[in-house]
Amino acid sequence: MELSSQRPRRSVLFVPASNEKALTKADKLSCDAVIFDLEDAVAPQAKQASRERLSACFALMGEMSLERVIRINSLSSEWGRDDLAVACACRPDAILLPKVETPGDLLQARDALDQAEADSSMALWAMIETPRGVINVGPIGELGKDRAARLSCLVAGTNDLVKETGVRVDFDRRFIHPWLMQIVLGARAGGIDVLDGVSNDFRDLDAFARECAEGAAMGFDGKTLIHPAQIGPANRAFSPAPAAIAAARAIIAAFAQPENAGKGVISLNGRMVEQLHLEQAQRLLARSRPAQEDTSR
Ligand code: COA
Ligand code: MG
Repeated sequence: MELSSQRPRRSVLFVPASNEKALTKADKLSCDAVIFDLEDAVAPQAKQASRERLSACFALMGEMSLERVIRINSLSSEWGRDDLAVACACRPDAILLPKVETPGDLLQARDALDQAEADSSMALWAMIETPRGVINVGPIGELGKDRAARLSCLVAGTNDLVKETGVRVDFDRRFIHPWLMQIVLGARAGGIDVLDGVSNDFRDLDAFARECAEGAAMGFDGKTLIHPAQIGPANRAFSPAPAAIAAARAIIAAFAQPENAGKGVISLNGRMVEQLHLEQAQRLLARSRPAQEDTSR
């Protein structure tokens, strides 16, 4: 598997572009990334004012250590093209496309970014949140291998999946687990990151911590959030545990021993350890380093 972004994406907070107070405070948050939202969180009559507010906010923002993403409306909607023009001018790290259903949807947005002469570092993130999106998530995720496609992250849109399918999630998420796992597989097929969907019940932080632990166990790199109170639990759940870091260091040290030079498989504390475990250990350490350094934020 290719290395995904070295940047941690444990906690990714949606901030409605209609909420001026929240926008101005976004750079003080301790999340790894912010998604400034022009889509679902903004009412139709507030779209234009929100675009203007977002532009003003980006103009005032200095260098930020957190990743900045703008979610636009779908390019097939009446707001999509204007959103894209404003988003490009803001020069965020990425633009998040909602309701991506085919590789063509992504390539259309890529072409629009190229035409707008957006910097090649400006990435695309894709929400997978419709039945067609889940069905096509393999070919969509595989675009991650093609640098020119700009795709760097998939985001599970659980609220829309519930709405579109009628599945019930009122007692737990068991019925959407297969779709979530498909989204993880699609992202990994392209060597890119993948984020779990939001938890609407932002006051119940115990239930939220359990859902984060579940998402981490399912292979997600992080979780999308709707409220600042969710940042701490998400950062904790998606950071590698100290025991996992120690185990990774032990594997790297073992393979570095002269007697193990060139070996494909070794024995370590009674367990078989292969080159693939070495790669896994290196990946874990690479991703834990920035997460550990930024705890002061
Ligand atoms: N980003 C930044 N700040 C936020 C925030 C967010 N997503 N959600 C809440 N806050 C701020 C509030 O502005 C408030 O700040 P203040 O103390 O300076 O006034 C503080 O956190 C406490 O907010 P609280 O009163 O607990 O919540 P609320 O009732 O104001 O807002 C929501 C609740 C759900 C409406 C709000 O959290 C929200 O809009 N979330 C994002 C929704 C979204 O983007 N949805 C689309 C993607 S699923
Ligand atoms: Mg949605």
